[in-house]
This record gives sequence, C-alpha cells and structure tokens, in this order.
Amino acid sequence: MGIGKCQSFRCQRRIGLEYGLSAQFGARGEKSALNFAGHHILGISQFDRGEVDRIFDVADRMRPYAQRERRTTVLEGAILGSMFFEPSTRTRISFGSAFNLLGGHVRETTGFENTAIAKGESLYDTARVLSGFSDAIVMRHPTAGSVSEFASASRVPVINGGDGANEHPSQALLDLYTIRSELADRQRGIDGLRIAMVGDLRFGRTVHSLSRLLTRFTNVSVSLVSPAELKMPAELVDEMRQSRIDVVETDQLELGITNVDIVYSTRIQEERFESQADADLYRGRFRLNQSIYTALCEPNTVIMHPLPRDSRKGAQELDDDLNDDPNLAIFRQSDNGVLVRMALFSLILGVSDQVDDYSKPVNWSTERRF
Ligand code: CP
Repeated sequence: MGIGKCQSFRCQRRIGLEYGLSAQFGARGEKSALNFAGHHILGISQFDRGEVDRIFDVADRMRPYAQRERRTTVLEGAILGSMFFEPSTRTRISFGSAFNLLGGHVRETTGFENTAIAKGESLYDTARVLSGFSDAIVMRHPTAGSVSEFASASRVPVINGGDGANEHPSQALLDLYTIRSELADRQRGIDGLRIAMVGDLRFGRTVHSLSRLLTRFTNVSVSLVSPAELKMPAELVDEMRQSRIDVVETDQLELGITNVDIVYSTRIQEERFESQADADLYRGRFRLNQSIYTALCEPNTVIMHPLPRDSRKGAQELDDDLNDDPNLAIFRQSDNGVLVRMALFSLILGVSDQVDDYSKPVNWSTERRF
C-alpha cells in the first residue's frame, strides 16, 4: 500500500507485533497482512491488484461469521470510533456490525451538531482526541479530502466512509467483490468485464472509486451513461483510458446498457446540487424497470446499485418491479459490505490470520427466512 501509513508509536508497535508474530507464526503462514497493518484506507489509488485479491481472500473467510454460523472474539477489547457527518444506513451500520462481529465495540456519533465541531473544534483536534480513545476510526464527511486531513492527525488507522463527491473506497471494494461473485456464478472472471455505470457520475463517489479499481484489471469495457452535465470527471476517464479500459460515454440509456455484464445504476446525488430544483432536472432520467431491462439488456445481466436507491415517485432509477428478478444483486451487494469491512478491519489491525483461532459456534438460532 502506497499511502496513509499510520506513523505513531502505537501504530508502529502494532506493526512490529504483526511482523514479529503473525508473519512468522500465522495460522496459515500468510504474511501479506504486513501490507495493511496500521494503514489508513482513504482511496483506491493505494491498492494494487494483489492487495485487492488479498482483501477478497480474507473477506471470503469472514462468511461464517457474517452468516452467524460462528462468532469470533479476535478484536475483544478493541474500540471503533465512528463519526458520520452525512446520512448513512449501510456504511455506518455495516462498519459497526463488522467490528462487532470481530468481537470489538463501537462508539459513534452522527451529525456535526452532536460533536464539538459544532463549537468550532478543528478536524486536527478531533482526530488527536478520538484516536486516543479508539483502535480504529471510520469517518464520513461532506467535504472531499477531509477524511485524509483527519487521518493525517490520527494516531490510529482511519477508514474513509465517503468524503463528499470524492471517494468511497470500501463501497468500491464491496462492489467489485460482488461483481467477482456474480460473474463467478456465470463462469466468468473480472478480466474482460463489460460494465455500464448509469446516472449521476459527476457527484457519485461510488462510481469514482469503482472506476479507479477497475484499472487494476484487463480487457475491461466501461459504458458511462449520464446527462452531459453529470458526466464522470475527465481525470477519471483519462485514468481509465490510460489503463487501457475501453470507455464509451453516452446520454442514451438504450445505447449504454446493451451488451454489458453489469448495469450499475446510481441515484442523483441531490445533496451535492445547489438547489433541489437543479437536482429535479435529472431525477428519473435513466429509469431501469423490468420492461426496459428485458427489452434492452442481455439475459442475466447483473443489476447493481450502491444504494440507497431513490424510490420516491418521479425518481425510481431502479424500479421496485425488479425486486423479484434473480439478476438484481443489490441486497447481495449490501450483505457483502459486512464481509469486506470485516476483512479491512482484520487486516489494518493485524489479526486476519487469527480470526479463526478465537472462534466458536453461536448459541442462538441463525435461520433466515430468505
Ligand atoms: N452505499 C452507501 O454509502 O449507503 P449509505 O449512504 O446508506 O451508507
């Protein structure tokens, strides 16, 4: 990993322990965790393909815990500080659940109004203080770059839970993990992927991070479907093209979503617009429902969305009438978020090789209805 190494004595000490114990005596003899322990996770640029594979391998091993077949106390006593300054359902709760499922505790605050930032405290001071109480921190903030600024003052690893319209790295990792899984069911791999990203590509941080992540793979084709005003930032398009991704941009849904393996729909990010009226200009512009899907997409095209989808009348970029279509992967996608976030915590806290050593079956009924 190229950036974001935690420099404090406490982090260095943890890395030292990781090197001295896990790398030499890890249950599986793995040593890749050396690349992660003590690191912040701020953006996709810091990962190479091997590190992505490593995260996915660890995520695979988290399934019995996420599915409540077993529980582990490998992070018993550890504390996650969770600060979300923008609304969140999935990211906040799945990061918290992931930490709990590893045996750790979560202390959280939501909204500026509930923190001392409302009294004028700086990100620097907040980071110095919170990192004194926590073993890891996850943060969402409306300003691009703010989580990196916070991390530079933190004494413990920080994970970016979304910084403005910039990046959402854990979402991209869980998206790609889902793509890998869905394509594997179709006897395919990520290399050779054909994906359409649809909607607000200008402000959508999930598609920004996912585009970067796809540059690690070969023979990828990306179809970018958006209104002209909401196009993917040019530097990201350039990055993809420089990495030999075949990129096509269009404002025509019917041109963009035929001949792809994945349709990745996104919400109009109304919170980033100057006014509601500005956002309303684009709401419902690229609606995918069962009849459009059947008419335009190849059979078994996977339907994804980072969620939340906007289900209000007039929006419905991903219609509820797709809910029973087996190709709708959106809830498998959100389930995978827990696996990937457990993997990230276990890697940055240097315990990925020890999770099973601290595990036992659960005591309660774990049946799910579907
Ligand atoms: N995908 C995502 O970031 O969802 P939340 O805003 O609910 O966290």
